[in-house]
Amino acid sequence: MSGHGDPIPMMSQRGPALTGEAHVPGDKSISHRSLILGALSVGETVIEGLLEGQDVIDTAKAMRAFGAEVTDHGGGRWSVHGVGVGGFAEPAGVIDCGNSGTGVRLIMGAMATTPITVTFTGDASLCSRPMGRVTDPLALFGAKAEGREGGRLPMTITGVRDPMPVRYTVPVPSAQVKSAVLLAGLNAPGKTVVIEKEATRDHTERMLAGFGAEITVEETEEGRVITLTGQPELKPQHIVVPRDPSSAAFPVCAALIAEGSDVLVPNIGLNPTRAGLFETLREMGADLTYENPREEGGEPVADLRARFSPDMKGIEVPPARAASMIDEYPVLSVVAAFAEGPTVMRGVRELRVKESDRIDAMAQGLRAAGVEVEEGEDWWVVHGLGHGKVPGGATVESRLDHRIAMSFLVMGLATNAPMRVDDGGPIATSFPVFEPLMTGLGADVRRA
Ligand code: S3P
Repeated sequence: MSGHGDPIPMMSQRGPALTGEAHVPGDKSISHRSLILGALSVGETVIEGLLEGQDVIDTAKAMRAFGAEVTDHGGGRWSVHGVGVGGFAEPAGVIDCGNSGTGVRLIMGAMATTPITVTFTGDASLCSRPMGRVTDPLALFGAKAEGREGGRLPMTITGVRDPMPVRYTVPVPSAQVKSAVLLAGLNAPGKTVVIEKEATRDHTERMLAGFGAEITVEETEEGRVITLTGQPELKPQHIVVPRDPSSAAFPVCAALIAEGSDVLVPNIGLNPTRAGLFETLREMGADLTYENPREEGGEPVADLRARFSPDMKGIEVPPARAASMIDEYPVLSVVAAFAEGPTVMRGVRELRVKESDRIDAMAQGLRAAGVEVEEGEDWWVVHGLGHGKVPGGATVESRLDHRIAMSFLVMGLATNAPMRVDDGGPIATSFPVFEPLMTGLGADVRRA
């Protein structure tokens, strides 16, 4: 099992208004997929703006272990010399995906239809997360998985030599599961069909098409039906990774709750399968605007402008929007504490199996900071106190979860007393420049 070193206690407190521009890093989902699809292509894929967070670095290392040549040219520019669909070599050692559910699940899919045996592991957080949701559909192709009880890592997967194409309805709203099945389908002859009842982030579908695979998506009564024709020759690409809306969420939410703030977060991808938080914030009355809306690389992009919003109101978040903002509920719950009245979040069972149980982690920290929270298995309610009325003054456990750590550090910028997290180390998995970026806006966030 891997770890991430000594804990880094951090704190944040009220300070001057946040101002200026926040240039957040590249999108995590697209960065993982760029490396994996690059490794499955024949020839050189060039990636610009790759997120150099630990999660993605671990995926880069894994691609090298499977035989791809992955080179860091500096300044976020990387290249991948791929081995082609079905060309993965058996790694000499264990594949350690660190903290990354996306990394491990996508890579399991990518290797499952090649006759190699691979052992996967990760940190304590990843080793507690369910892998059966991926290994169940991979078994339909013929791959075999053996792991710890409950389908936990460490786990060994033996890929299948003559895979069958699969038709699979994803039982939980999960882009990772959908993507694992599609990546496995790449090396199966014939058509692999994946059906999702609720739309989840569609980067795998878009990028597979971009790499030259034959893939169609139909909206039917059954849901989104995705059909991939197996054994394509993927063509290397030049990818410019858009900036991550899930990282943009932190400076945006900080600006909304910190008095007097006015922050611009340029070049944020607003793919509708990712932008649910911003819509929700606007419904709460946030002063959040999309400036200079445009299209880049086939994706909608805008500059987000967030200004201090003292009059936000709690709302009921439509459950149908959950998948498009699933990573953003922790920071939304922080904003909800500063809004007037209850914010109701339903249909969010998946939050319980992220890097931590995010409902439990946020509820405990919010309560310790003086905010009332109710919760059930797949719902929770944060009772907002309104601007200037949130006590704070708590020390919260980040539980090896980057988004829990960042959410409470954002919270401390507007609570009456400072907030502390026991370990800011996990922030490096997705947002390695969080601390300098926030302090650059004027935020009082520091190691404590
Ligand atoms: C991701 C999918 C989501 C999300 C994760 C990234 C992806 O996970 O929470 O941060 O890149 O496919 P699930 O598939 O478990 O919902």
